[in-house]
Amino acid sequence: MKPIIWEKGCLKLLDQTKLPLEEKIIECRSYQAVADAIRDMIVRGAPAIGATAAFGIVIGAKEIGVIEDKKRWLEELKKIGFELKQTRPTAVNLAWAVERMLKKAEDNIQSGIPQLQDILENEALEIAREDVESNYAIGRFGDELVPEGANILTHCNAGALATVGYGTALGVIRAAHSNGKKVHVFVDETRPFLQGARLTAWELDKEGIPFTLITDNMAGYIMSKGMVDLIVVGADRIAANGDTANKIGTYSLAVLAKEHNIPMYIAAPLSTIDMSLTSGKEIPIEERETDEVLFIKGKRIAPEGTRVFNPAFDVTPNELITAIITDKGIVKSPYKENLRVLFERE
Ligand code: MRU
Repeated sequence: MKPIIWEKGCLKLLDQTKLPLEEKIIECRSYQAVADAIRDMIVRGAPAIGATAAFGIVIGAKEIGVIEDKKRWLEELKKIGFELKQTRPTAVNLAWAVERMLKKAEDNIQSGIPQLQDILENEALEIAREDVESNYAIGRFGDELVPEGANILTHCNAGALATVGYGTALGVIRAAHSNGKKVHVFVDETRPFLQGARLTAWELDKEGIPFTLITDNMAGYIMSKGMVDLIVVGADRIAANGDTANKIGTYSLAVLAKEHNIPMYIAAPLSTIDMSLTSGKEIPIEERETDEVLFIKGKRIAPEGTRVFNPAFDVTPNELITAIITDKGIVKSPYKENLRVLFERE
């Protein structure tokens, strides 16, 4: 299951807006097409949009072509980077990947333009390779937290589709399953974009991992009935104190988890941790179009003129998080100190 394929200068994306009914690949041959694909959520999920934007820079570098004045070339590349970063503001992996690509260009500016283009292509491929590797590491660490026979609740899609492969939260579930644990997953439908119903259910089905789909408002009920042993979700941005932005509805799950004494785990690579932000209050929360709420599959479900609020993410305060499962190990409270130590070690 590959949501992102790089093939001879063309970025192929599995169109996630069409799943699970259709497995359609779209081809991006301009950085603008890459930016549109991220904005329109053809590709989504924090690590996936980071890697996609990195390939957007590669395509952009080709589009700029050869300019004698290297300073001007770099300025052009930075403009492309800026445009790519504007597409979705919450997931920090996007800005992280763009910055890493721009730094690579800056560090190698003495090379000829064709060489620079190759260097950037290799860097994007490296970002993609590292992402899959981190997900396997998250899976290995997270598996230690999953008891045999666990009923696991997850929200949104933090699987192979949301990354370059394997997944973060679903990476933990995949690892437990492939190690022979008889796990069962409750999949939150995840209104309004239905990443749970459309994408997580599709992935788990393909993998043969037993699951049950619920609507978001059923989560409290199943917790109160003792039907959930642990919750594991992904993250879009984690502040230096552990506060975590993730798909809207994650915060509600964390509050319910506390009430019912259920462990609440966040699974994310270091590229999702933004050490420049002291708390979750500083994380920009994307608001999306009202039509996502007003329509389901093109069908209006609320009266004309209905006012809508559609924040795509919320922030779970660190005190509601049992542990953060990273690619470098499991981090527990006090997050401020323990995340700092993790980064200092790197
Ligand atoms: O709006 P989306 O679908 O991009 O939101 C995705 C999520 O919130 C995921 O949980 C998060 O990006 C982690 S993906 C490994």
